[in-house]
Amino acid sequence: MRVIQMGIGGMGNAWLERLMPFDFVTFAGFVEVDAAVAQAQAKKYLLDERLIFPTLEAALVTVEADAVIAVIPPQYRIETLQTCIDHKLGLLAEKPLAENMADAQRQVDMANQSGLLYMIAQNYRYKPEFQTIKAILDSGELGSIDAITISHYRGVKFTGFRAEMPYPLLNDMTVHHFDLLRFLLGPEPDTIYGQSWSTSWNELKGKMSAFAILNFPQDIRVSYSASWVSNGHVSSFNGDWRFDCEKGVLTLVNDVITVQKRSGSDGIWFAYTDLEERLPSPLEYNPQAYLAYELQEGLNNGYRPATTVQDNIKTLQMVFDLIESCESGHSIQSSKRGS
Ligand SMILES: NC(=O)c1ccc[n+]([C@@H]2O[C@H](COP(=O)([O-])OP(=O)(O)OC[C@H]3O[C@@H](n4cnc5c(N)ncnc54)[C@H](O)[C@@H]3O)[C@@H](O)[C@H]2O)c1
Repeated sequence: MRVIQMGIGGMGNAWLERLMPFDFVTFAGFVEVDAAVAQAQAKKYLLDERLIFPTLEAALVTVEADAVIAVIPPQYRIETLQTCIDHKLGLLAEKPLAENMADAQRQVDMANQSGLLYMIAQNYRYKPEFQTIKAILDSGELGSIDAITISHYRGVKFTGFRAEMPYPLLNDMTVHHFDLLRFLLGPEPDTIYGQSWSTSWNELKGKMSAFAILNFPQDIRVSYSASWVSNGHVSSFNGDWRFDCEKGVLTLVNDVITVQKRSGSDGIWFAYTDLEERLPSPLEYNPQAYLAYELQEGLNNGYRPATTVQDNIKTLQMVFDLIESCESGHSIQSSKRGS
């Protein structure tokens, strides 16, 4: 698959490093608006500087491609999508899909009308730890899930597009955790309630701390707490997860999975999950390569990836329902979301 990667600074580093080892991807060209970044990255990754262009349109005058991987801020999604439609190129864009639901719906409509394959990079689904958790939950060995507790704490300092977001934590990070809930459980929640605020030491104008309670079908309750202005102990980007189930407890703490199960009637025994055996192995544990592979299969063989824009708008809706709840003080029902 001949790919043009837009954005080679920031998260673009991860895409370059994780795709370069794979033969099925050929970098036809790159788009980078910052000339200094273009120069530095050309040196770092031994890229041909003649293949780095300031705009996608300029790149397409010179190089031929099958798809675009857009590792750029969300405000450029619509113009990137339009160019891909005009040139009949598949598109895999970073999350979040959009800065508001109107822009998200517009992109879904554009993808539907054009028939373009458009995926959003919800890479957390394809991390080994979450593939493993899903395999354990789906196996039924822990019985039904009663409650899930998620805790995510980081201390981050941002400039750039995140500094302009009204809810950087929710739009840029919680979107991963909510997509994981959809991946692990299947349906969207029936209700979402939350609060989001700025701590006295938050230096950004956007709110960086949040609590949420989500009620999923089958009486599964989720408690979510997160902050990006932690002054002390931090969790991984995954966050720490606890699944309280009928027959035991599954935890993900510091990215390590532990399963505890009841043994007969006499208490609890501890089982450390054998991760290697259970892992379905998405392209050598490489989420970005797996997403790119799905894009290729979608373009060549009509395969339907899990994280198309048509699916991803449901994840984004959860984030904007939480924001609506934070602003209104009300719980948001799924009927309001038209599902
Ligand atoms: N999935 C993940 O785990 C993950 C992690 C980090 C960031 N992201 C997402 O990736 C996207 C980019 O974030 P980032 O942290 O890399 O941002 P960044 O600002 O650090 O880097 C973006 C890069 O793209 C370039 N760029 C900006 N607009 C461009 C345009 N129109 N055309 C070409 N190049 C352009 C910038 O010069 C810069 O080099 C965001 O949507 C962010 O949410 C995802």
